[in-house]
Amino acid sequence: MRNNSLNHIAIIMDGNGRWAKKRGKKRTHGHEEGSLRAKEITSYCSHINIKYLTLYAFSTENWKRPKLEISFLFNKLNRWLCDEIDTFMQNNIKFNYIGDISKFPTNMQNTLNNTLDKTKHNTGLTQVLALNYGSKDEIVRAIKKIDIEDLTTENFEQFLDTKDMPSVDILIRTGGEKRLSNFMLWQSAYAEIFFTDTLWPDFTTSSLNEIIENYNKRERKFGAL
Ligand code: IPE
Ligand code: IPE
Ligand code: MG
Repeated sequence: MRNNSLNHIAIIMDGNGRWAKKRGKKRTHGHEEGSLRAKEITSYCSHINIKYLTLYAFSTENWKRPKLEISFLFNKLNRWLCDEIDTFMQNNIKFNYIGDISKFPTNMQNTLNNTLDKTKHNTGLTQVLALNYGSKDEIVRAIKKIDIEDLTTENFEQFLDTKDMPSVDILIRTGGEKRLSNFMLWQSAYAEIFFTDTLWPDFTTSSLNEIIENYNKRERKFGAL
């Protein structure tokens, strides 16, 4: 039984490289396997009626990686979106992205915007990919858009990439590191945080279920008694 309301799950999908290395394979093999997990977790969230699932796929800091790994990730993402469109339509999933995609190759920007457009009338789960996303960058971009006098915490949210999205209820980081790596700093102000040693390619729907069960037992106080 769900005790706490649960609208938004956000995941820092970490550990692909280490997963592959452990098997004597290239890091890209880990990304390949990781993308399958992203697909499974998305379908599962849609199935259990979660409203929003945000997946951290490429950070503003990931540009520091070797060019080859970056282009692999971009190609993978492009193919992934093209393959996923049928699943999105069959499962009534709406696609969205956060982050500054203007730095991405044009073909990728087109794929992202086409997917967004094709799925915009779907009413089930919204799957959000965080792409060239970093909270600090998002907040600075938001501030540059603001031209109002009565700025409040509520109306500031309308200038963030996540406008109209509920705040994060469950924030998960796989792969054993205990840091946020510039992800959803504002939106996770009151998130329940879960760090797991499981590497992303080993993360299953039962791993997610365990986390949801634990979440339901937590007392969310939001500052009250
Ligand atoms: C996270 O896995 C996926 C992306 C950043 C795209 P990593 O690639 O960071 O894997 P590790 O942390 O090196 O194992
Ligand atoms: C965070 O993982 C970014 C994504 C999962 C996309 P990283 O592997 O890039 O984070 P750090 O470098 O360990 O902090
Ligand atoms: Mg990592």
